[in-house]
Amino acid sequence: MSRRPRKDVPARGDARPTVSVCRGCCCGTEKIPGVDHAGQLARLRSGLAGTAVVRAVECLDACEQGNVVVVQPSAEGRRAGGRPVWLGLVNDEHAERDIVTWAAAGGPGLADPPDILDLYVFQPSRRVRSGLEG
Ligand code: FES
Repeated sequence: MSRRPRKDVPARGDARPTVSVCRGCCCGTEKIPGVDHAGQLARLRSGLAGTAVVRAVECLDACEQGNVVVVQPSAEGRRAGGRPVWLGLVNDEHAERDIVTWAAAGGPGLADPPDILDLYVFQPSRRVRSGLEG
């Protein structure tokens, strides 16, 4: 049996970027005060309707960075070299809007993120990354 990859098989991943919004034990709760958590998820969903998959996920094991949002590349973005980008302390509407703008433009691998998002990027441990990215 041949183990060579087939070129007609789509790359792993969705046709659209995926925005994973942590809603675990800390993110999305009163432990992070002063944030309209339900509104945040609703704004991300409405802003990215049709252009990205937005999903709420359980604790990503990076609670000190809450609210955590991970922008994952589409299949095309992954082929272009894009990798998941972890954003922490996403607790203001400016960051939300920048996430929407970036993901709607194609996300990792296909569009440059707004510069200001650099302030939110963090590198989780390999163990934590593997929990989301498999
Ligand atoms: S609840 Fe979001 S990282 Fe733990």
